[in-house]
Amino acid sequence: MTDVTTKPQTDATPIGVFDSGVGGLSVLKHIRQLLPHEDLLFCADCDHAPYGNKSPEFIRERALHLSGFLIAEGAKALVVACNTATAAAIEALRQHYPLPIIGMEPAVKPAAAATRTGVIGVLATSGTLQSAQFAGLLESYGQNVRVVTQACIGLVECIERGELEADSTRQLVSQYLQPLLDAGADTIVLGCTHYPFVRHLIAAQAGAGVTLIDTGEAVARQVQKRLAESGLLNATNAAPRNTFWVNRQSGDAFLETAEVITGLWGGKADLQPLPNPVKYRARLLSQ
Ligand code: DGL
Repeated sequence: MTDVTTKPQTDATPIGVFDSGVGGLSVLKHIRQLLPHEDLLFCADCDHAPYGNKSPEFIRERALHLSGFLIAEGAKALVVACNTATAAAIEALRQHYPLPIIGMEPAVKPAAAATRTGVIGVLATSGTLQSAQFAGLLESYGQNVRVVTQACIGLVECIERGELEADSTRQLVSQYLQPLLDAGADTIVLGCTHYPFVRHLIAAQAGAGVTLIDTGEAVARQVQKRLAESGLLNATNAAPRNTFWVNRQSGDAFLETAEVITGLWGGKADLQPLPNPVKYRARLLSQ
């Protein structure tokens, strides 16, 4: 176990969530909807995004660091809102930190159950697709279907910049999606938490006959289940807080992008940068 300064974990303490950047907000949205009384902490490691082209060792270091920070801030549970970091680091995190840790992986299992053509497509980062975890997923659930994978190099960067409608983003989406459609995929897994923010572009090109699967909601249900099992669900907090951290260099860019992205939640977001140990600390005030 790693020696991090922990505060006592009770149902009143927050849930810690992290990702390489804004992608984790697509998971946070579902956690907020399902668990309206929880305080949420979110770390966006934007200075080190994308994780998808980094080594597993590097990602593991970042994941251990961010998790230690969130635990020191009082987290009672951790959510790795990142497929790439889960693949690289979930085992190390569970070895180091004694609290509920929920990770995520591309939804190959539900996609294999849903397909009618017998062909599923997986959009994810290179890191996820090259991982042993993903190989294990294919072995367990991909035997009776054809799984066509596509690493979406450069797409996370477009989303980090908030370019959700830009021609360059559309072109990348189109370039990565078309081979999956050409192969006959009728079910496509969004295997990176950034991709739900360009779901509209993917859906427009794929058409109504293709089902898109995003795991954010299932992860939120898993968080709820794990907290309930541990007696840590907060059912009473009337004024739940959302506290965001982002590293110094990317602070302004994160706030801009997060505003664009949280605007998609349907609620108004008021994000404010505040100097703190990690220079920018932003509170999402209204949900
Ligand atoms: N959002 C992350 C994921 O789910 C990581 C993307 C990246 O930083 O490359 O894989």
